[in-house]
Amino acid sequence: MLKFCLMGWSVGVLCFAATTSVWGVQSSLVSVPPTTSDLGVLVENAESTSRKNMVASVHPLATQAGVDAFANGGNAIDAAIATALTLGVVDNFNSGIGGGCFILIRTAKGEVYAIDGREMAPSAATQDLFRDAKTRFSNPSQTGPLASGVPGALKAYAQAVAQHGRLDLRASLKKGMEAAEGGFQVTEAYAAKLRIAKKAMLQFPGAVNVFFRPDPKTGLIEPYRAGEILKQSDLAKTYRKISQEGTDWFYRGGFSELAGQWMEANGGIMTVNDFAKYKTVNRKPVRSEYRDFEIYGFPPPSSGGVHVAQVLNILEQFDLAEMYQSDRVGFYHVVAEAMKLAFADRAFWLGDPDYVDVPLGLIEKSYAKELAVKIKMDSVLTTDHNIPPNAATDFFERHTTHVAAADSEGNWVALTTTVNTTFGAKYVIPGTGVIMNNQMDDFVAFPGKPNAFGLIGGENNAVASGKRPLSSMSPTIVLRDGQPVLTVGAAGGPKIITEVLWAIINHLDLEMPIGEAIAAPRLHHQWAPKQLLLEATFDKKMAEQLTAKQHQIKRSRSMGICQGITFDTKTGIFTGAFDPRTTGSAAGE
Ligand code: DON
Repeated sequence: MLKFCLMGWSVGVLCFAATTSVWGVQSSLVSVPPTTSDLGVLVENAESTSRKNMVASVHPLATQAGVDAFANGGNAIDAAIATALTLGVVDNFNSGIGGGCFILIRTAKGEVYAIDGREMAPSAATQDLFRDAKTRFSNPSQTGPLASGVPGALKAYAQAVAQHGRLDLRASLKKGMEAAEGGFQVTEAYAAKLRIAKKAMLQFPGAVNVFFRPDPKTGLIEPYRAGEILKQSDLAKTYRKISQEGTDWFYRGGFSELAGQWMEANGGIMTVNDFAKYKTVNRKPVRSEYRDFEIYGFPPPSSGGVHVAQVLNILEQFDLAEMYQSDRVGFYHVVAEAMKLAFADRAFWLGDPDYVDVPLGLIEKSYAKELAVKIKMDSVLTTDHNIPPNAATDFFERHTTHVAAADSEGNWVALTTTVNTTFGAKYVIPGTGVIMNNQMDDFVAFPGKPNAFGLIGGENNAVASGKRPLSSMSPTIVLRDGQPVLTVGAAGGPKIITEVLWAIINHLDLEMPIGEAIAAPRLHHQWAPKQLLLEATFDKKMAEQLTAKQHQIKRSRSMGICQGITFDTKTGIFTGAFDPRTTGSAAGE
């Protein structure tokens, strides 16, 4: 603690912190709900069941790529990667090979692996990169060349299939390549994202070339509209090149050369060398226990595994199922306060473990007990970060969209992948069709400056050469008696952590089927800003009662997108569910 106080750059953070602080039939059908909504409206059929295998994602074409992988002899790892690579084409405003990912894999042999494909800051990046940036882009950590870290998703996907899959990467690339080449129908959701990104994208001819066309009526250059067919021939070529020449084409060949040239011409700092130096990291998963369950999460540089475990440890001190029946407002209050306590710690302690010390004590039961007793039932805590046991001496090992997959051999996957915000940094490396991420915004650009998700942080998450920005992505696998029973994860920035928590609480504690657990209205607290977000559909009376406990309520239409798969050990049935807040799909053979 003292060492943070002594560092000049962090003093401001500390001062600032001190004053403010996720059934027996078989189905081969891709299920798409009859009605979809981004308002959290429960749709009837967001679930699919199978005895063989299951994959769930936010897009039917991507889910079908996973089902095809199973049909071609692949396992859950092949299905997850084929799905992810197809999402990188048909859902590329969320994720793609220009971004990064975390992949949590539980193999049939019972081993759990965490493959870190998070972006790395370019080697020329310094702590003051964004403070000193002289650039024509008004928000350089979010838009344009400085916003991007070196992408890791492709390398992580390739590693996952090479080490744990049965098919090769070429098979995983096929469906995406076809969708890029032949085109796909732009959904209303996709068109809406293009409208949001339009102004920023117009600054980049590479992006305009791919996502804009002359309007049939006016002749004006406008983004594609819902119902139109979007073909991405450059991205199809990129997928083909990777298929023919391997990932070296991306990291040590044609792609990196084009990216390096573009960076140089546009004021970026990422070089060909940065691509050549990119490495995935095999990390030790965070393992914790919650009631009768084992929870595996993703370790730093994700904050997800740590804080899902921390919040569950705090909540274990309460009988949630009983409270849900007898004291519903108390139930929601306790969950919100536990979230707040964890996010206060996130802001201070968390960062890339290859650069900073993240205390293992954060997930100790004794620490959770200390925090749980702080929660008052009638009012809210005004909390700063706390100090977990062994904070200075006991460390983790050094080292947005979500896809869930599982098969009957016992392979389970939780894969969260992202270019960060919609269409990432809004530019495309010309000639490649690849949208580059804006993950640099997940660092603390400078003290006290909230990122795109309103998150503030400390020096542990400052920019540094080669460092990985802190993430909230929370791919999670849950076991009971050594048998996987749930895989879950989400998209939504910091809400990812609380979405995963809700899926776990709703399914494990409140015994809701996974589809219901995901669809149920959510609340979210991230400590700063000081507000309790309630989903638009959240009960009005409950909102009033939470206000009476001093919560500062804010309604939110957007509470993230979560996918999950459960396994019923008695019936041997997988149930996959997608989030009814978007047009996803879950399917098995
Ligand atoms: O890694 C993170 O925490 C963020 N870059 C995730 C971004 C995200 O979920 C965007 N989706 N809404």
